[in-house]
Amino acid sequence: MDSTPDAWSNADAYLADLLVGHDPGLEAALTAQRDAGLPEIEVAPVGGKFLHLLARISGARRVLEIGTLGGYSTIWLARAVGADGRVVTVEAEADNAAVARASIDAAGVGDRVDIRIGRGADVLPTLVGGFDLVFIDADKESNTIYLDWAAKLGHSGAVVVLDNIGRDGEIVREDTTDTKVIGTRDALRMLGEDPRFDATALQTVGVKGWDGVALAVVV
Ligand code: DHB
Ligand code: MG
Repeated sequence: MDSTPDAWSNADAYLADLLVGHDPGLEAALTAQRDAGLPEIEVAPVGGKFLHLLARISGARRVLEIGTLGGYSTIWLARAVGADGRVVTVEAEADNAAVARASIDAAGVGDRVDIRIGRGADVLPTLVGGFDLVFIDADKESNTIYLDWAAKLGHSGAVVVLDNIGRDGEIVREDTTDTKVIGTRDALRMLGEDPRFDATALQTVGVKGWDGVALAVVV
């Protein structure tokens, strides 16, 4: 069996081709993000569709995203909430937010998406709660702060998704000095210990290498 990263990536592209389909708005958002020189760390196409389906399955109408980047996952979520739904997305970098704003508008979902520019720790306390789904995909060092806000701003039964929990398996290395790994591990410990959450996590391989996603419900 070939389990090299190339095989993971090829299989991911195959699955995306079979299952994800083509959405000009989403594809243009990726091009715009690359042209603007933003880091290519958005969710994979299969991951974006996964988020979209989670939102639809849970009947989410109010979604909170922490970490907009170029708006790719934002468009996936906005497509899921329906015409009267709303996505509030928080982005620390004004330049990223400008790229996202243009792509989200061009994708035809601008009226559903409210981009709040600022650091999560500053913006999140200003939001009104009652969210149905919270997607956390920002600076990993602040993951526990974001989880705390997800528990406060999500209603009981809300879905919480935390990106990038695998980090090439580095999460088990107790001696790591990588602050992203430490922030991720602190978040996983919080998901396990904090009675406000019931959670699991799945490792993933694919175009983004070896990583994973945690899924929780607000109790
Ligand atoms: C990183 C951040 C992400 O959100 C991601 O999906 C992959 C990598 C990072 O900062 O390393
Ligand atoms: Mg991510």
